[in-house]
This record gives sequence, structure tokens and C-alpha cells, in this order.
Amino acid sequence: MEMQLAERPAHVPAEAVVDFDFYNLPGSDKDIQAAYAAYQGSAPDIFWTPRNGGHWVATRAEDILVMQKDHHRFSYRHITLPPMPEDAPIQIPLELDPPIHAHYRRPLMQALVPAAVAKLEDGVHRVAVDTIEALVPRGECEFVEDFAKVLPIHVFLRMVNLPLEDKALLLPIAEDSVRGRTAEIRAKAQQAMGAYLQGWVAERRETKGDDLLSQIVNVEIAGERISFPDAISYAALVLFGGLDTVAGMLSFFARFLATHEEHRRQIVARLDDDAFLKTAIEELIRRHGMANTARVVTHDFEYKGLTFKKGDRLLPPNLLVGLDDRLNSDPFTVDFARTGGVHAAFGNGPHACPGAILARRELRIFLREWLSRIPDFRIKPGTSPEMATGMVNGCSATITVSGRRQF
Ligand code: HEM
Repeated sequence: MEMQLAERPAHVPAEAVVDFDFYNLPGSDKDIQAAYAAYQGSAPDIFWTPRNGGHWVATRAEDILVMQKDHHRFSYRHITLPPMPEDAPIQIPLELDPPIHAHYRRPLMQALVPAAVAKLEDGVHRVAVDTIEALVPRGECEFVEDFAKVLPIHVFLRMVNLPLEDKALLLPIAEDSVRGRTAEIRAKAQQAMGAYLQGWVAERRETKGDDLLSQIVNVEIAGERISFPDAISYAALVLFGGLDTVAGMLSFFARFLATHEEHRRQIVARLDDDAFLKTAIEELIRRHGMANTARVVTHDFEYKGLTFKKGDRLLPPNLLVGLDDRLNSDPFTVDFARTGGVHAAFGNGPHACPGAILARRELRIFLREWLSRIPDFRIKPGTSPEMATGMVNGCSATITVSGRRQF
């Protein structure tokens, strides 16, 4: 389906134009992150593309980090590309700029601080162990369906106190909202999530519980509870944030470890070494960044010889920070002994991911519980993981679990 290309605005020099469609990147079926990184060095550090409504793209860490932190010049007001219709509801809190943003974000931060996440840990463990133990006798599994879409969703749906059986309904909606091929598909997913949440949000505003959903839909700004439509938007964003992301990262981890035996052995040998595991997790996250959020330029200004005009859209793919060889030497080599590795997979600045602590905990529990029971596994011959790029990049993998278990 051919999308209409945007016309090059007069303030964009012809030599800054590059054909870049992040919903359809060459080579992304094999390696999504490499497909993005192919523009580092082969294109201008900052270029403009006529795709997805026309927008700038930053490819280097130095600029991406500025654009993540400086909301005065690079606002979050519109994070989706191509832009949603003007009357689309604001995605709270992601499309709010400081100072108001912080007021909305407070209950999220309180629910996801280390002490709160620690309370969830036993539950995460139990779901992980039960799920893995059920898989081992089968000798193989479809990793995304049988594990990646089980652990984080069980944990998350418990946090917001929504029925586990709704997982089958919610996951396709979350998938469409971030990787739907057209703006219509993504807008429909937003509406479907809003429709699903109507009853639950009304109930939690009627009777406030101590679950995360109750906390966010009853947040008060300047002493006044947020409106019902804002509560729906907030609840939807948190569900989108928590449903698909960890599952995606787990899949990238599993795919990497299924195809890199030496790395797998290194982790298996040091599963009880917290410090090593922490570094290994950061290194795997650095290699597999996955979330994209766009920015809108707030006023006209010059930036590194380019003219940015008020209203310009801009994509600073955070995964490119981790793969920038100006910052991380030999970035495509995953090295568990790497020190000083830098990535921006969880964002930076006012909107840095509040779920990062929980996500890292789930990734650690996966490595420990999976590798202590299934130290050897590979991609099933004749199958190949499917990759999908979009606002959140994702991967599916069919993995063969070899017979060796280590109890
Ligand atoms: C590996 C897993 C995850 C990744 C890679 C990830 C990535 C991100 C990124 C990059 C941002 C910032 C957007 C930006 O500034 O560009 C973000 C924001 C957000 N994330 Fe996550 N996330 C993950 C897990 C989670 C989880 C588990 C939750 C929920 C419990 C969550 C909820 C949110 C929310 C609500 C925001 C918006 C925060 C705000 O606007 O202030 N994320 N995430």
C-alpha cells in the first residue's frame, strides 16, 4: 500500500532528504536495530524524510540525548508518526510537557519505585517458574506466545487489578497501537482500548482500590481530580506501556541467546553473580533498543546548521544511542565485560520510563529461572523470528528447547 509522500518544506535543504520509513526499514526483517543503524554514517547525522507525514530523523547519540531532555525546543506534544488527527485525545502523560507533566506522573512513580517493585518479585518468580516448568517437557515452544506474552502481562494485569483472561483481548490491541501499519489501524486500537477501559475506570473512580489503575485514574491536579476522558487516556497509555514492551525485550534477549551459545554459557556460569547479571542485562538492552517516540519543534531555531521550524516533527530513535560508535566502541559486539556502555532504551529526561525498574527485574528473573532450567536452546531449524518495526519494535521467535535440563 503506497503512502502519500510529504512535500519537502522550503527550509529543508535537498541534500538533507533521505528516504526513511520506520514502519518498513530495509533489512529489518533480519535485524531491526541494525536496519536503523545502517543510517548512521551513510546519511547526514540529522536528515529529513518525506515518509509518515514528513519528519526529521536524528541518528547520533549526541543529538538524540538533547532531544530527549530539552522539551523547550523539542516538545512531546505529539509523539506518534504519522501524526494522529488533531482531535485525537492527548496520550497522558507521554504527550504532556513539564511542568504539568510531573503532577500526572507522580502516582506512577510511587507505584513503580524499587520498594514497590520488590513486593511484586515473588509473584514474578512464581509465574516465571510455573511457565518454564510447564514448557520443559515439551522440548520446544513458541517463545513469544508461550513465555514473553505470559510473564510481563500476568505481572502487569495484577498490578492494575484487571482480569488475566482479558490478556487475549488486550494484547492484539496493544500490538496494533504500536505496530499497526496505518494511522487508521493505530487509531482504532486506541479507541478499542478506550472502550475496554470505560467500565473499569468508572468503577475505580467510584471505589478507589490500592491497585495502580485506581491510583492513576484518581490523580488530582491542583486539588481537582482529572476528568474521566483524561483518566481513560492515562489508563490506556499505562496499559500500552506495560503490555508490549517487556514482552518485546524478552523476545530480543531470547533470540540473541538462542543464536549466541558462548554468551549463553557465560551467563549460565554466573547466574548467582548479581553484578555480572546486571552488566549482562544492560549490554543486551543496549544492543536491542526498541521504543520510538517523536517530538514536535516548538519554535523556529537553528541547530547544527539546519533550520528547524515551529511544528516540524522529529524522530530521535533511542535505540541509536546504544549503537552509536562515537559513544560505544564496536557497538554491534555484545560484550558482557564492557564498561561504560551507554544506551537510552528507557528514554531520558522528564519522560524517562517509570517502568524501567520493573522491566529490569523481570528480565533478570527470566535469565535466572530460564537458564538454570534450560541452559541450551536454539531457534528451531526451518523457522525464523519475525520482526516488526513501529512506535515500539517487536520480534517473535520459535525456539527449540533442547532436552538438557539442570535440576
Ligand atoms: C523493556 C521494557 C520497556 C521499555 C524498553 C520501555 C521504554 C520506554 C521509553 C523509551 C519511554 C520514554 C519515552 C521517551 O521519552 O521517548 C517510556 C515511557 C513510559 N513507560 Fe516504558 N518501557 C518499558 C517498560 C515499561 C513498563 C513495564 C511500564 C509499566 C509498568 C512502562 C510504562 C511507561 C509509561 C507510563 C511511560 C510514560 C512516562 C511519561 O510520559 O512520563 N514501561 N518507556
